Amino acid sequence: DLAALQGVEKGSLRLAILTTVKYTVPKLLGGFCAAHPGIDVAMVVGNRENLLQRLAANQDDLYIMGQPPEQLDLVCEDFADNPLVLVAPPGHPLVGMAAVPPGRLASEPFILREPGSGTRLTTERFFATQGVALKNRLEVGSNEAIKQTVAGGLGLAVLSAHTVVSELALGELVQLDVQGFPLIRRWHLVYPRGKRLSAAAVAFREWLFTHHQPAALPEPGARARRAQARPT
Ligand code: PGA
Repeated sequence: DLAALQGVEKGSLRLAILTTVKYTVPKLLGGFCAAHPGIDVAMVVGNRENLLQRLAANQDDLYIMGQPPEQLDLVCEDFADNPLVLVAPPGHPLVGMAAVPPGRLASEPFILREPGSGTRLTTERFFATQGVALKNRLEVGSNEAIKQTVAGGLGLAVLSAHTVVSELALGELVQLDVQGFPLIRRWHLVYPRGKRLSAAAVAFREWLFTHHQPAALPEPGARARRAQARPT
């Protein structure tokens, strides 16, 4: 309608996004707020468990999250890929090795996200189905801090590819070529089915689907192979 075209909606918008989504969606807010100056945006960043709690308590208008629970009556729209990759410090012995069997990682120190993280849940499920028990676990409650601990040589980690785009491009971290990786997850735009979306929420949903560009994610193993090919 005319109001939407002119961007004269008024109101507020409460968004809740995953820790892994903060590398892409917040960038879209600049353009959205410029196009809709009457809308005030409040954005919360949390892990899977945080978002599920907020959803159950109806605290936000829109959620960008992984797989929502089936028992809640939700609208769940497919939004983007969220591949999880295995990262190592440059110089790790497994860098450049093709199709590493998951069992080979049992002896490696691992850095895991906090309980409540979807990244951690997915990682644990994958290794459990492979019959691999991860050892020497260090728990770190932030993607940013995990990247630093991996780069510092404390261990390996599974992280959303969205969180390590720059580090992989700069060679500060290296993606290992492990069988079964990347672990494929999806992000969804979620809200309670019974909830009538405000004009602000409708406008943001529209903005999200028209302006979101799929990230140029690293090709599995490409960096590892390049690192190996580099003369020493
Ligand atoms: P999280 O986000 O690890 O911060 O919970 C990712 C996810 O749920 O996929």
